[in-house]
Amino acid sequence: MNTEESVAAHYSRGNVEDVLLGIIKAAGGNPQHFVPADLHGADQLHIGGAQATTRVATRAGVNAGSHVVDLGSGTGGVARHLAHDFGATVHGVDLTPQFVAAARSLTERTGLSSLATFSQGSILALPFDESVFDVALLVHVGMNIQNKDQVFAEAARVLRPGGIMAVYDIMLMGGDIEQYPLPWAQTPDTSFVQPPLAYSDALEQAGFEVDQEVKPLAEGIEFLEKSTASSGPVGVDAGALSNLMTAFRSGVLSPVEIYAHLP
Ligand SMILES: C[S@@+](CC[C@H](N)C(=O)[O-])C[C@H]1O[C@@H](n2cnc3c(N)ncnc32)[C@H](O)[C@@H]1O
Repeated sequence: MNTEESVAAHYSRGNVEDVLLGIIKAAGGNPQHFVPADLHGADQLHIGGAQATTRVATRAGVNAGSHVVDLGSGTGGVARHLAHDFGATVHGVDLTPQFVAAARSLTERTGLSSLATFSQGSILALPFDESVFDVALLVHVGMNIQNKDQVFAEAARVLRPGGIMAVYDIMLMGGDIEQYPLPWAQTPDTSFVQPPLAYSDALEQAGFEVDQEVKPLAEGIEFLEKSTASSGPVGVDAGALSNLMTAFRSGVLSPVEIYAHLP
C-alpha cells in the first residue's frame, strides 16, 4: 500500500454514513431531511467542530457568493456548514471514497447539493482549471501529507489572484510525539506533522504571502475535554483522543491556523 492508500484505509473504518444518520435519529430528527447543525459537529472531523469552522471561514473572508475549494473535505461537514451558514459555493476533494459517498448523500439530504459538491481524488493533483476559486481551505489534512509544497502549489494554481489560503492543522511545536494512535494516523508511517514554519515556507514557495498565524491551543484542549466526555467527531477512538490531549498538554502539538493570500 502506498501512503495515500494507507491514509484512505485509516479513514474507511465502519460505515460513517450510517453512524451519522444514527445521530440524527437518536436525537429525534428526520434522517431523510435535516439541517447541517443536526449532526452536532460529528461530521466535522477537526478540533473545535462547527465553532472552529465558523472562526476559520470568517478569518478567511468567506461570504455569500464565495467560491471555495475544501481540500480534504472528509464527510462534507465543513462544506455543508459554509453552504448553509455563509451561502458559499463549495467544492470538496477527498481521497477516501467512503467519505465522498457519505458527503454526497448527507448533502443531498440537507438540500444543499446545488451549493456543496464533492470529488474523489488527491489534493496533490486537483481536477480543476487555473484561477477558479476565491478561497482554499485545508482543515486537519496536512498531517497526512508529506509533500506540503505540492499541496500549496496546487492551491495556488486553482485560486484566482488575491485568493485566500486558510490552513487549520495540528502542528509540531517542539519535542517528539510519544504515543500513537492519533486521530489521523495509527502509526508514524502516515503522520507528517510539521512546525508552522515549514507551512509558511511551503506557502511562500508556492507564491503566497503569509498574513496571520493563530494558535488556539486553549480552545483545542477544552474541545478535547468535552469530546472525551461525550461524542466527538465521528470515527475517532478514545485512545487517539487521549494521546492527542497528552501531546497538547505537554506542548508537543497544537492546533494552528495560518492565513495567506496570492498577490
Ligand atoms: C481529519 S479528516 C478532516 C476532514 C475535513 N477537512 C473536516 O475537517 O471535517 C482528514 C481528511 O483528509 C483526507 N486526505 C488525506 N490526505 C489526502 C490527500 N492526499 N488528498 C485528498 N484528501 C486527503 C482524508 O481522506 C480525510 O478525509
